[in-house]
Amino acid sequence: MASRILGTIVPMDPHIMLETLKRRTGFNEAHMRVLAGLGHYMTPLASEVALAFYDYLGRDPEMRDILWASPGRVERLYGSFATWYRELFSGVYDAAYAHRRYRIGLIHARIGITPGHMVPAMGIVQEISLEHMRTALRTGEIFPAVEAFEKIIAIEIALIDESYLAALEVGFKLGTSSSRDALVEGANVLLKEARV
Ligand code: HEM
Repeated sequence: MASRILGTIVPMDPHIMLETLKRRTGFNEAHMRVLAGLGHYMTPLASEVALAFYDYLGRDPEMRDILWASPGRVERLYGSFATWYRELFSGVYDAAYAHRRYRIGLIHARIGITPGHMVPAMGIVQEISLEHMRTALRTGEIFPAVEAFEKIIAIEIALIDESYLAALEVGFKLGTSSSRDALVEGANVLLKEARV
């Protein structure tokens, strides 16, 4: 049934979407070099950002319930979040990067984590990172750093949003009646069928 439905849908190609988003945000080679250079200051911070991030999530009762819903989840997340954070400053934003980001979006959609959780959480990542840039960088380095960082974060949010739309489309085709069920079911199917 799921495969039949997927057959009628032209899946979004995350790499094409990434290239479109680079053009739309004006994210160019110079920004990529700035982010790679920032890695020196920012990647040692990854575990600390992960801790602060999950501390923030844990203060919201709904998100805390999700985090503690299965044993080992939080411990696993510290590591995967830190990897995600380091990759922001890798300087490589290619097809593999696009597919990884799209998949991360679907994993959240499958758990029922909505944009209302994701977008403010991304705001926290920005807040912690910008504060660190303010203290770690020289005055003249701050603006280019913030410009490049804001562009990659805009791209990250858009890739997650696009994965949510893809999940919803599949979910509604499966006949689910609420958007939440459509999100969860659609993401489940897309992840299972490994179409991303
Ligand atoms: C800036 C936003 C966020 C980022 C960058 C992020 C990053 C990640 C990454 C990289 C993974 C691992 C995906 C994989 O297995 O391949 C993950 C999984 C997960 N995230 Fe997030 N996350 C974000 C927001 C949230 C929010 C708001 C929640 C709400 C509670 C959340 C809860 C989870 C859970 C429950 C998993 C699955 C963990 C598991 O059981 O393996 N995340 N996240």
